[in-house]
Amino acid sequence: MTKGIVSGVVANMVTLRVDGPVLQGEICYITTGGDRLMAEVIKVVGQDVYVQVFESTRGLKVGAEAEFTGHMLEIQLGPGMLSHNYDGLQNDLDKMDGVFLKRGQYTEALDADRLWEFEPLAKVGDKVQASDWLGKVEENHQPLKIMAPFQMKGTATVKYIVAKGQYKIHDTIAVLTDEQGNDINVDMVQHWPVKFAMTNYREKPRPFKLLETGVRTIDTFNPIVEGGTGFIPGPFGTGKTVLQHAISKQAEADIVVIAACGERANEVVEIFTEFPELVDPHTGRKLMERTIIIANTSNMPVAAREASVYTAMTIAEYYRSMGLRVLLMADSTSRWAQALREMSNRMEELPGPDAFPMDLGALISNFYGRAGYVYLNNGQVGSVTFLGTVSPAGGNLKEPVTESTKKVARCFYALEQDRADKKRYPAVNPIDSYSKYLEYPEFADYIKEHINEEWIPKVLALKTRMQRGKEIAEQINILGDDGVPVDYHIVFWKSEVIDYVILQQDAFDEVDAVTPLERQEEILNLVTKICDKDDYKFDTFLEVIDYFKKLINLCKQMNYSTYKSEQYYDYISQVENLLNS
Ligand SMILES: Nc1ncnc2c1ncn2[C@@H]1O[C@H](COP(=O)(O)OP(=O)(O)OP(=O)(O)O)[C@@H](O)[C@H]1O
Ligand SMILES: [Mg+2]
Repeated sequence: MTKGIVSGVVANMVTLRVDGPVLQGEICYITTGGDRLMAEVIKVVGQDVYVQVFESTRGLKVGAEAEFTGHMLEIQLGPGMLSHNYDGLQNDLDKMDGVFLKRGQYTEALDADRLWEFEPLAKVGDKVQASDWLGKVEENHQPLKIMAPFQMKGTATVKYIVAKGQYKIHDTIAVLTDEQGNDINVDMVQHWPVKFAMTNYREKPRPFKLLETGVRTIDTFNPIVEGGTGFIPGPFGTGKTVLQHAISKQAEADIVVIAACGERANEVVEIFTEFPELVDPHTGRKLMERTIIIANTSNMPVAAREASVYTAMTIAEYYRSMGLRVLLMADSTSRWAQALREMSNRMEELPGPDAFPMDLGALISNFYGRAGYVYLNNGQVGSVTFLGTVSPAGGNLKEPVTESTKKVARCFYALEQDRADKKRYPAVNPIDSYSKYLEYPEFADYIKEHINEEWIPKVLALKTRMQRGKEIAEQINILGDDGVPVDYHIVFWKSEVIDYVILQQDAFDEVDAVTPLERQEEILNLVTKICDKDDYKFDTFLEVIDYFKKLINLCKQMNYSTYKSEQYYDYISQVENLLNS
């Protein structure tokens, strides 16, 4: 193996003189004062190699020795990851005292001693390719697949496979014979370099299946789909984290991976304490059972932060290749981009806009491109849905991270300071936000088949009403309440009904927090009925305000009532009575 000697140290950037070949992206360990510091190669110039150290380089001196490993930053994938908290390098944070690792301390990601009930899916003589399913184990009620090695080339034949029974992750569960006649021992563990997309599927069509999140402003207004991408930009404190947590708690996903990337330490601790208590509204089991958290706070070195989003994505892709629906959340991708910027600056690269690396757009685009809905080689389907938050400095949506993300993410949920100030939560701007999926014919077909024909036209009609309401609000602002016809007030208040009843939702109320699709359909129909009614008779704008406030109040009470309860139906009939009065 290649060895190196430290020749320079600038914060986490270290230069080494090496005595042999080195790969771009290769991992090496630098020894200092008894600690072994993990580092990744970012640039190779002849005998000089630039590495970024994933740890504090305090005390590191010129002359220290380094050993190269011959492999890239890779993680271990296997049973036993669910409900774990890892850092960006897949150290198990639960094995630490407290949330933070000591320098040079790395832990095993998987439990080598735990026994798993393995059940073969392949039999002797079967022809298999990389990632094909050989068997299954169950973890936290999720059916996990044990797959042929991801890196295997060509087709192999199953020579031997163990019988159903209890095995550990490193036990050989199958022997495959490759095309050259070599035997390959297969256990339950896979390795994958995190910066490479897993392409172990047959096809990645445009996604089209609605992913129910229970958040009305998303599902009804700007839906996301299984395998889709979206992002949530918003100034500080506008509700990015609350919204992402709501989605991760409620969305109809088999597995949820949360990359808490460079957020404040207390927010990360909050996730650790809050998540284990939460109950999955779909199954009644603990949410944490299907969740993996990758946590890096801003007080960890930048390089570890950069790695964390890739680690999270790789874990998500791993479960996708088992035919599962995975939801991946990253909060916030701005911190990730800042890590890229810091590193690029230390390398003295030519900077792009706002000193971000020139290839920021490509990096973001490649990352979002790893999400998707796929047909696996065996015809089964799996998905990685990706939602990232962006915290644009000063709320400026023209900054490079927001702009680059906007080019690739298909859903845009713009959180607005003004709405947050008015406590109109979630503060998703109804006019600027969008979902490109609404324009996909595949999606329209899916909605027609699974909900009804009128759903999308009704949603589009309400969006138009929101736009019109906003225009009128501006006119009223300028001309005064008396300066516009009473009819204008009606149009404006119809848009307020849409806002209060559909878009606003209390993430902290047990009932209102999650709206199942069937209930969203009833709300959509009711609101449409209110808006389509065109024979309201009012003499003054004050009557309009009074009437619609009553209406909104009743609808909100309905939203807070348990679905299909007596109370719920009572509020609906009160609304109907008011409409007919
Ligand atoms: N849907 C909601 N329902 C009720 N309150 C909300 C909702 N969304 C946000 N809030 C309120 O706004 C506060 C800030 O939200 P949050 O922490 O998610 O903001 P953020 O955008 O993640 O902030 P930062 O940029 O600092 O990370 C919450 O503590 C909560 O009081
Ligand atoms: Mg936040």
